[in-house]
Amino acid sequence: MQRVTVATAPIDGQKPGTSGLRKKTRVFMEPHYLENFVQSIFTGIGGAAGKTFVVGGDGRYFNDRAIQVILRMAAASGAAKVIVGQNGLLSTPAASNMIRKRATDGGIILSASHNPGGIDADFGIKFNMPNGGPAPEDVTNRIFAATGEIASYDILEAQDVDLAQLGETALGEMVVEIVDPVEDYAALMETLFDFDAIHGLFAGGFTMCFDAMHAVTGPYATEILERRLGAPAGTVWNGVPSQDFGKGHPDPNPIWAKPLVDLVMGADAPDFAAASDGDGDRNMILGKGVYVTPSDSLAVLAANAHLAPGYAQGLAGVARSMPTSEAVDRVAAAKGLSCFETPTGWKFFGNLLDDGRITLCGEESAGTGSDHVREKDGLWAVLLWLNILAVSGKSVAELLQDHWAEYGRNFYTRHDYEAVETDKANAVMDTVRGKLADLPGQSFPAGTVSSADEFAYDDPVDSSRSEGQGLRVRFDTGARVVFRLSGTGTEGATIRVYLEAYEGDAPKVAGDPEEALSAVIASAETISNLRAITGRSGPDVTT
Ligand code: G1P
Ligand code: ZN
Repeated sequence: MQRVTVATAPIDGQKPGTSGLRKKTRVFMEPHYLENFVQSIFTGIGGAAGKTFVVGGDGRYFNDRAIQVILRMAAASGAAKVIVGQNGLLSTPAASNMIRKRATDGGIILSASHNPGGIDADFGIKFNMPNGGPAPEDVTNRIFAATGEIASYDILEAQDVDLAQLGETALGEMVVEIVDPVEDYAALMETLFDFDAIHGLFAGGFTMCFDAMHAVTGPYATEILERRLGAPAGTVWNGVPSQDFGKGHPDPNPIWAKPLVDLVMGADAPDFAAASDGDGDRNMILGKGVYVTPSDSLAVLAANAHLAPGYAQGLAGVARSMPTSEAVDRVAAAKGLSCFETPTGWKFFGNLLDDGRITLCGEESAGTGSDHVREKDGLWAVLLWLNILAVSGKSVAELLQDHWAEYGRNFYTRHDYEAVETDKANAVMDTVRGKLADLPGQSFPAGTVSSADEFAYDDPVDSSRSEGQGLRVRFDTGARVVFRLSGTGTEGATIRVYLEAYEGDAPKVAGDPEEALSAVIASAETISNLRAITGRSGPDVTT
């Protein structure tokens, strides 16, 4: 086996976004594209020599090819060992757990999350730190800087490693260990939740559907729900991971997981339903006749987490990304917990978790998690819900109604305008940005503006500052509008408009969200001129 040094040159646009580098799969397949980025990761983290890494992905098209390249490059750069999920599979939270549990030097995760997979779809790669969490901005900045200076990369000339064969093999002087991707993760879940109580729930005839959306959570959900918790066979839908996610869009929301939503709204609704995304870090929660918004889910979990053994001692604090609704803030205030507001993206929770300031955190984009790993975790959220349902004896609808009766309701929706020409998207943002200073005191259908600013975050742990994290307008009624450009899209720009209205009046909390939010939606349009500037008549996706 020979180590070769291949001459290359910087490739434009290898800037990690909200969650690593995401591009069209064909872009990743271009000569040197993946190799340049992998070498730049090694440069950005101070080299690979002597280090141990975890590598795995969500099984999408090109996952296995990319892993073979990464293994040969890690070996050529002197890495001591790489731990790989069998067949190249590791859900993002399971990878985070593996990185932590084996006390490694970090990991490389291959995924484009909820984006479709396939040669004409999307691919992605990101580096996670030894704490199991996504690399923070100083590291991604160093990686990006390295992509601009790269002149060569090192790679071993070798045959493929058999990713199906469990156990250790050698690749040059590096050890490759192929591990079961589910075992350690399932064991971790057993330490957090009352498996007996959940088992009892299923034994009593409780019904559930989990849609793995042909993505990575299939094997995890089948092992945990059907084998360990005794849910009937068939509880897990679409449980075999496929390279193109069954030609679907593995995004657990009411648009892409519509069959599940239709089921719970129909006559044969199960007691509980849930779905996860391509790489297993997102979740959608449903009950008979109800869809639980991710922001509400975070709040309900924060209010009831003590019912699960792993959280029985209470929470240190909570955090949410800025555009996530303020429902969890109300729980925190009532329970005397500190509540942090961070920029969009899981990497911003890492310091708060490491420093013991928070136990639970979440985002409106269907991400919820805790200090058990350093990524959001779809199945974990499902299991925490199951634990709460089992111990409280309430249905999903009852839990939600009781929650709103106690805390009031933050009606919430997000409107996405996708594949917008970049200059038009920037024009929308500039329009709002230009008005921020004058907005306070002005009246709109949603109320009188009480504050308006561009969100910047000062990390309380390491004092780093992140600017340009979204434009937010708050009204005296408790309503809010947030405008942001997506940092994960692979085509043009995606404008996200986050809309929220608060209702504290108990008889009104059961109202229709569309109606409750109509004044906020109208105010957002007046402030941004979005539809006029983009020529769009409405959002492409509403979640
Ligand atoms: C999106 C979500 C964000 C999430 C990220 C990675 O990022 O909005 O909450 O952390 O995907 O899953 P965005 O495209 O908005 O930058
Ligand atoms: Zn994901």
